[in-house]
Amino acid sequence: MEAAVKEEISVEDEAVDKNIFRDCNKIAFYRRQKQWLSKKSTYQALLDSVTTDEDSTRFQIINEASKVPLLAEIYGIEGNIFRLKINEETPLKPRFEVPDVLTSKPSTVRLISCSGDTGSLILADGKGDLKCHITANPFKVDLVSEEEVVISINSLGQLYFEHLQILHKQRAAKENEEETSVDTSQENQEDLGLWEEKFGKFVDIKANGPSSIGLDFSLHGFEHLYGIPQHAESHQLKNTGDGDAYRLYNLDVYGYQIYDKMGIYGSVPYLLAHKLGRTIGIFWLNASETLVEINTEPAVEYTLTQMGPVAAKQKVRSRTHVHWMSESGIIDVFLLTGPTPSDVFKQYSHLTGTQAMPPLFSLGYHQCRWNYEDEQDVKAVDAGFDEHDIPYDAMWLDIEHTEGKRYFTWDKNRFPKPKRMQELLRSKKRKLVVISDPHIKIDPDYSVYVKAKDQGFFVKNQEGEDFEGVCWPGLSSYLDFTNPKVREWYSSLFAFPVYQGSTDILFLWNDMNEPSVFRGPEQTMQKNAIHHGNWEHRELHNIYGFYHQMATAEGLIKRSKGKERPFVLTRSFFAGSQKYGAVWTGDNTAEWSNLKISIPMLLTLSITGICFCGGKMSPLRLETLISLCASFIQSGFIGNPETELLVRWYQAGAYQPFFRGHATMNTKRREPWLFGEEHTRLIREAIRERYGLLPYWYSLFYHAHVASQPVMRPLWVEFPDELKTFDMEDEYMLGSALLVHPVTEPKATTVDVFLPGSNEVWYDYKTFAHWEGGCTVKIPVALDTIPVFQRGGSVIPIKTTVGKSTGWMTESSYGLRVALSTKGSSVGELYLDDGHSFQYLHQKQFLHRKFSFCSSVLINSSADQRGRYPSKCVVEKILVLGFRKEPSSVTTHSSDGKDQPVAFTYCAKTSTLSLEKLSLNIATDWEVRII
Ligand code: NOJ
Repeated sequence: MEAAVKEEISVEDEAVDKNIFRDCNKIAFYRRQKQWLSKKSTYQALLDSVTTDEDSTRFQIINEASKVPLLAEIYGIEGNIFRLKINEETPLKPRFEVPDVLTSKPSTVRLISCSGDTGSLILADGKGDLKCHITANPFKVDLVSEEEVVISINSLGQLYFEHLQILHKQRAAKENEEETSVDTSQENQEDLGLWEEKFGKFVDIKANGPSSIGLDFSLHGFEHLYGIPQHAESHQLKNTGDGDAYRLYNLDVYGYQIYDKMGIYGSVPYLLAHKLGRTIGIFWLNASETLVEINTEPAVEYTLTQMGPVAAKQKVRSRTHVHWMSESGIIDVFLLTGPTPSDVFKQYSHLTGTQAMPPLFSLGYHQCRWNYEDEQDVKAVDAGFDEHDIPYDAMWLDIEHTEGKRYFTWDKNRFPKPKRMQELLRSKKRKLVVISDPHIKIDPDYSVYVKAKDQGFFVKNQEGEDFEGVCWPGLSSYLDFTNPKVREWYSSLFAFPVYQGSTDILFLWNDMNEPSVFRGPEQTMQKNAIHHGNWEHRELHNIYGFYHQMATAEGLIKRSKGKERPFVLTRSFFAGSQKYGAVWTGDNTAEWSNLKISIPMLLTLSITGICFCGGKMSPLRLETLISLCASFIQSGFIGNPETELLVRWYQAGAYQPFFRGHATMNTKRREPWLFGEEHTRLIREAIRERYGLLPYWYSLFYHAHVASQPVMRPLWVEFPDELKTFDMEDEYMLGSALLVHPVTEPKATTVDVFLPGSNEVWYDYKTFAHWEGGCTVKIPVALDTIPVFQRGGSVIPIKTTVGKSTGWMTESSYGLRVALSTKGSSVGELYLDDGHSFQYLHQKQFLHRKFSFCSSVLINSSADQRGRYPSKCVVEKILVLGFRKEPSSVTTHSSDGKDQPVAFTYCAKTSTLSLEKLSLNIATDWEVRII
């Protein structure tokens, strides 16, 4: 079986075969909704059925044709959020409501009902700004802020709700062949896929019949929409045409096509819309297959000729219609009303949680390969980094490290002494990350399998037996992570005595958790497989990977008795996955276009809560590339385009949140030093730049963790009033201080960088050249250039020396890069703690410092008095950019009243003032005065 699987892999080694995957027209619930909507059948709200309690306002909605009553519930949630739930009032059996994604039951605010006209109801949130206007017939909801409609729900009449039915054959039998009102002619229409849906050789038998839902939202004045990852698409969402929609369905798409709306590994059914003056969000909490259509109507101006002698003009605002359709479940939607991007981020994380605070090592560079062969290999690669003076933090082992892809085991020949190997890494202050997939090899001698089977912990098939599918180990069963007992048991497998050969420097990588099932429909699990609680897989497909990562992260926390922060990378994810670790963008292709699209893909993940995300740096088909490189290098041609791509990928990766090099199996080796001295130098420089900036990265992650702000930000988030930034995706901000424009074109000699903000000033990170904001500048680039700019008005903390890994840098000195604004001031922060435990949270063992520069005085003060952390680190260097005149003296002033003169150098050409050999403790208050 293993050989067969291997063969499958090598056949797979090409770009995606799109025939394996369905497009909209092959999806029955999409066709059904389209057909029904063309009939324009309307829903009516029965306002005399309104009831209100502490939490919500409820009323019935009835469709004029089906007459099946639906129950609508409207909630006001703290922080300017509205929630609308629509379910059948009396479903035949409960419909699936997504559990475990909301961090807690959202705290509601009581909505007060104000009198509307007859046929309408107005609900206000008490403060009076936000109101919900409900129109009875046809049913419509308008969300109004400051007397302006922001969002309308069902204004296009696309509310769609398939009520659960008994299969007509059963019903006929039950009712003894009595006449029923069921439209059997429809049930017989195979292509509507009501009870059975075919795709290629696969037949999906639907025990519950059709259960699809849909609803439209009109966003008034909005033309710029973002979010709903994961697609290999542009950051700004595009209008969808006929038979075209963004698909949210977690799938293993090897070598995925780019600029395509097909669903890939993960789904976050959450979309943001932005216009001048307001940002909003729509979070559609549904874990079944989901399609999203987008259609923008531009603004129009009418001339009203019928209005008498003077022609009157009337302007209709632009608006964008968003149509959500899901295969099953209920309608449960949250409207986040902003008004700023930062407010929307907070509102969303109030519901789904913030980014987990990563251990510091995980922000360093990771070295991965499918596979590092054996312990000797690991040792040699590890030594290679030291030999070439390249820092790295974690060595990764792919599936071959196990005994025949039995996770939690080690291949005894390749890794006879896993602990010894980890001790070697530990002595270098480095970590090990190993893979653990959700499929479990069917093998009566494999204890994980036996225990899971005995306890009934696998997903079941229609016959009630364990579901079986093929993945890396051959025939496997799949753990049912939706069951809390399975998660609890799985997490116990990471305990040190249970996971033989593991130590506390071993962390985890969850892969293939869409779940990937080779030869399954669309390479995944049949929708009618059965999970805990008797739920069909179709109901919760998109959340399977979320639970896998949750259980793994809990396992790592548990093994440390609640003391240590976990690190878990996952390929599949859902809304809220940010609470459990990091995400990467899967199996991309080694082409410039893939490097380019990694930026919008990561920006989209970042604004939908998943801040700890990264691409794959040495992606598929690099094998061709490497062999080419090798021959070019041998014949003396250095700098061929392919090597150039690799260098550019490292440079881009160094400025992305998760930074890992990876290589697929059967490829030639590609450790950073294998491409000739010059390229080794360039890669080393890129990685070292990353390590120098780690204090800034770590502080940004803390900010994401406590204040919900993304680490990697699209320009529009930082410059929400600047229209030109709204569709930019070739450059981005890291926090609010750094603008990065990676080079993603071959043989580039210049890049056009837009520096936003008319009152801003920007400084080149290396040359210190500066520009006023609000213009595009042509920046010359060589192969060693990474175009990075520091925003005037910011202070960035850095490390002045780089060690072998983050562990070697704990004590090393800090530098501060103070970039002055046009007004000669700047502010910045530093967060630091032990980098690995939860003591920052439970014992408040952290330091949060604030740096502010104003009137030629730089002050280091506490940003959060609650935190304490005994750091002996000093600030050794301060660089002030944009300092206009040479000072006559510089002194430091410490909190104990001592003043000391400081030596300085001033460069009039670049307006930079440099202070060196300082020894100012980072943890105490002090000032630097420049006269
Ligand atoms: C697929 C993953 O995307 C890839 O990164 C990994 O190397 C292989 N599975 C093997 O585990």
